[in-house]
Formats: sequence, C-alpha cells, structure tokens
Amino acid sequence: MGLVPEETIETVRLRSDIVNVISRYVQLQKKGKNYLGSCPFHDERTPSFTVTPEKQIFHCFGCNVGGDVFKFLMLKDNLSFFEALKALAEQAGVALPSLDSPAAQERDTRRDKLRQVNNLAKEFFLNNLQHHEAAAAARQYLHGRGLTAEVLERFQIGFALPGWNSLLEHLVKKGCQQQEIADAGLIIQAETGRYYDRFRNRVMFPIWDAAGRVVGFGGRVLDDTLPKYLNSPETAFFSKGRTLYGLHQARQSIREKGCIIVVEGYMDVITSHQYGIANTVASLGTALTVEHGRVLMNYSRNVIFAYDADAAGVAATIRGLDILQELGCEVSVVSIPDGKDPDDFLRKHGAGPWEALIGQASTLIEYKLQHAVKLGNVKTVTEKLEVMRQVFPSLAAKGGVEREVSLNKIARALSLSWETVAGELKKYEKSLNKKRLAPDKSTVNKNHAIFKEDKCDPREKSEAMLLRLVLDDPALGKTILAEMGEIPFKNDNYQRIFEKCLELYNKPGYRPEGMLNILDNNDQNLVSRLLTQDLPGKNAAKIMKSYIESVHRGIRQGRRDEILEEIRVLEKTGDHLHYNELLRELAILKSIDAAEKAGDRDRTAALLHKYSEYINAANVGQPGERRDDI
Ligand code: UTP
Ligand code: MN
Repeated sequence: MGLVPEETIETVRLRSDIVNVISRYVQLQKKGKNYLGSCPFHDERTPSFTVTPEKQIFHCFGCNVGGDVFKFLMLKDNLSFFEALKALAEQAGVALPSLDSPAAQERDTRRDKLRQVNNLAKEFFLNNLQHHEAAAAARQYLHGRGLTAEVLERFQIGFALPGWNSLLEHLVKKGCQQQEIADAGLIIQAETGRYYDRFRNRVMFPIWDAAGRVVGFGGRVLDDTLPKYLNSPETAFFSKGRTLYGLHQARQSIREKGCIIVVEGYMDVITSHQYGIANTVASLGTALTVEHGRVLMNYSRNVIFAYDADAAGVAATIRGLDILQELGCEVSVVSIPDGKDPDDFLRKHGAGPWEALIGQASTLIEYKLQHAVKLGNVKTVTEKLEVMRQVFPSLAAKGGVEREVSLNKIARALSLSWETVAGELKKYEKSLNKKRLAPDKSTVNKNHAIFKEDKCDPREKSEAMLLRLVLDDPALGKTILAEMGEIPFKNDNYQRIFEKCLELYNKPGYRPEGMLNILDNNDQNLVSRLLTQDLPGKNAAKIMKSYIESVHRGIRQGRRDEILEEIRVLEKTGDHLHYNELLRELAILKSIDAAEKAGDRDRTAALLHKYSEYINAANVGQPGERRDDI
C-alpha cells in the first residue's frame, strides 16, 4: 500500500458497493438501514453479521470482525490489501497505475503469457478435432459417447495429434518460446534434452478458471490404455485442489437454481450440461479440498454431491462432505444406483430420473448412516458408538425439527432407543464445547474481551459512545479535550483511535469509514463496530455532554473508592492532616452525587466548580490519580 494514490483507492471503494460484493459470499437480508446475514468468518446460528451500506462497512457482532470492502475481501479470499484493491478495481473498471514491484509485474506478464500459450493450444486442439484427418477416430469416439456438436463447442473439446511434437511445432510457429510452452505444462523435456508433446493422441478437455481463462487440460485416451486421463501438471495458475471443472460454464445456472451439483469427472459435467443440468461442476477425480469448498461457497451454500458409487468414491465423498459442512454449507448426497456415474445414468435414463434422484438426495447424516449400516458390523455397543461418532459432527450444528428427525433416524438405523441416542449426542456436544473453547481463546476471546468490557464497565461504554461521536464529527474532539483533559480515554485503544481521528480530520474529504485505511486490524474491528452501532439520538452535542458527564461520574466514583481505601490505611498509620483532607474531598464528592441524584442541576454545577477549585487549591492532583507527594 502507500504507492497507490488515495484518490484511486477511494474511486475503487466508491464504485464497489459493499452490499453487492458481500452478497456474492453471504446471503444478506435488509433490516432497516442495514443488511443482516450469517457471518462467513465464524459458525453461527443467529445472524449477527451486519453490513451498513450508508458507511460501506461490515461488522460481525458475534466474532467482532469488521471493516470496509477491502478488508472483507482480504479476509474472505485471503488477499493482501493490494490484491483486494486490484480485484475490486478490475471489477469496477478502474485502471490502477502499474505500481507492482518489478518482480510482481514480471510474474503477471509471465502468467499472461502462459495463458496465451494455453489459449493457442486450445485453438490448435479444437481445430484438429474438427478438421484433421488424424482425428477421425476421436470424432467417432465422441460421437459414440453421444456428445452433440453444441456441447463439444460449449466445452471447446479438441484433439491432440498422435505425433511427438505437432503442438510444439505449432506453438513455436505462432511465436511462443520453448520455455514458456514447457512452463505451461504442454511439453516435456526428454533426457536427451529434446522436448516432446505431453498430450498425444488424446481427446482434449480445456480447463477454465472461474474467470473463464484456460488454465490447463485433461486428455483422454480413445481406448483402454492407461492412464485414462492425463492432466496438465500443477502450474503457476493451475492446481487441481482448487479447480472445479465446468464452473465457468455453470455459474449462471448455479445462480438461477440456487444449488451446485458436484460430480467426479469431465464426462459427468459435460453430459449433465448436455441434458440441461448446467449447475454441475467436477472436482476432477481428487478428493474435495478446503480450497474447493471455499470456491463453491462463493457461488452457493447448497451443495449436492453425486460421486461415483464405488468404495473409494464413498470414502472421498464423506471427507469432502465434512469439509463443506464445517465451512457452513448445506450438504446432501445422491446415491447413484448400480455403481454408475452421472454420465452413465443420464444416458441410460435421461434428465427426468436424474433430477428425481437429485431431489431425493440424502442429508449428510442419512448418508453416513446408510454407509455405516451397509458396511455391516454395527451390532455391538462399541460399533454403534463408533457410527454415532461419525454421524454426530453433522448433527451438532443443527437444531429444531431437523435434529429431532435425525435422532429418530439414527435410533432406527442402529436399533437403539431415542433416549440413548439423544443422551450420547448431549455427551458429544459437551465434549465439543470444551474442545472448542480451548483453541479459540487466543483469537476470538481477545476480541470478545474488548466487546464485553464496555458492555459491563459504564465508563468504557461511555468512552465507546464518545469515540463514536468523534468519528462522526471530529470537531467534537475539541470539546472533549477541553472538558476531559489531554488524555480523555482510559481505554488505550480508544485513545489511540481518537488521536488518529483528530489527525486525519484536518485532511480534506474526511469520512469516518475512511479511518479504516490507516488503522491496524484490531482497531478496524473496533471502529467498524462503533460505526455500526446507532447513536441514542440526533443531537450530537447533547449526547456528548451526557456521556462526558457519565465519564466524569465514573471517575469520581473511582476516586471515592480510592479515598475510602486510603482512609482505611491512614486510620492505622495516623496521618491526621492528610486524613482530614481526604474526608473533605469525600464529602464534596458525596454531595455532588446527592445533588445529581436529586436532579438539582444548579447545585451540581456549583459543587462541581467547588470540587475543581478544591483540587487546584489543595493540589491533590487530578481526580483518579494517586498522590504520592506526601
Ligand atoms: P473416472 O474414472 O470416473 O472417469 O474418473 P470418468 O469421468 O467417468 O471418465 P469416462 O466416463 O471413463 O470418460 C473421474 C475423474 O478422475 C480424473 C478425471 O478428472 C476423471 O474425469 N482421472 C481419472 C484422472 O485424472 N486420471 C485418470 O487416469 C482417471
Ligand atoms: Mn464415466
């Protein structure tokens, strides 16, 4: 940061409506002038994640994380500030001056170059399939698998020629460097030092990233040779653990249907699309990873698994499901009859029965139960407990009817009484709570400490509201300084933010949310929380006055406690002079309190005046400060 002009950052912020951006990740509902949703940063049942369009900020009152649109993307997509800025600038059509480090610039150019190489390769393969005589068998093969011209076109399916270097020659002719082609994973260097094509005599499936750029390929043999599929190696921008095949083509349908179907293979995706079930993507044979899960969640939280029914598939499925559920997805599973994959099923039975199957998808719990029972061996108590242990993680997050129904299902499947299962679940949840508290302490509770502190301590609460007022209108800071001294805030965080706010205020175009730019992470959380809270009225000056009074009251109360403590000590040591002084001060403090309680404003004011005179005269120091000048 720092290198991009402030105005540019502002332009990007202004053009990136926070509600729009966050809506891509979180389902938001309008509530008054705010939007409310389930926090994407922690697991919660009641939504406490608040977006305030007026200030273009978000804040979660559950985990106390907040900030502006940049912070949201940084947290959600794990980006640096600059990366978040870049992403939003791109979407908003704002040109950023090229301020990347030379190394980053070079990396970007290189990536662009590699994408170009991939794109040229895709065109080459496509052209081969359509026109090359050596592709006759491939055309025959694809036709035999029932793929229409339209779907071949939509997925840009092509063919790699049987020779050793036809792609290499083609790309070199197009001006690509050998090294670039190798970096894109399209050619391999032999021990002799010569390069040859990675993909030969294979049907080629281009793989896109979500933005629609070709990042790699999968190539299938036409017969039973192994490996059946060959994929691009992991490159600078292709990683199987992050890529979902077909996502680029499925995006719109996912939005329309509100759910995602995840299958295993290329052909499952393509056939699904051909049959009009276009909200289908594939995890390309690998087990689903957390990264996959995060990508999926950006599009929908409603995920339906339709993996192959073989044993390896089931184990992988369960792992993937747990990952997704932990991330907060609604997960269900389709069991495909007679060991088939979605491609086979669709070709044999058509779209209707497939959609019916999807409609009957099991919940995660049902699926785990079915699987456990199918494996047999659930007769002894230990075996039943083991099954419950596998199933409970999916249940612990649920409440209400769903929980009831699931408990019934578990009881029935394991031939246990409802009470036994419910009892075991309670035990499990108890152990879970204990576990949960422990690791969370360092991170979450640190935030909660601040949160709770000002909920309990009235002074802290008044300080929070004063800071809130100053953020809105830093001009009020002067009054606060005049009435409360140079360090008005006892809370160091508030004091620090207060000072920064007064500093920034003198710059043109001050907006409270603009503060977020110059604060560290923790202070951003604090400020976003303050800004999300409503003020208890419209008249800022009046509200301020009452909070200042309340802080002073708190200070006086503190001083009274202190005096009482000192008096107790002096009663033993017998310093009469000081003792009497303290008694006088205590008497004034008590009378102020009494006048205030009686609502006698004039008398309160007079007494306050008297008190400040007393303090100045007696030179007892500021209230709240311990005297050590005896
Ligand atoms: P499958 O063996 O289920 O293949 O592998 P499929 O998709 O049904 O393919 P067809 O119908 O025989 O053509 C599922 C996925 O696993 C990956 C591929 O992404 C494949 O689509 N895979 C499989 C590989 O990467 N390499 C392999 O050798 C096999
Ligand atoms: Mn298949």
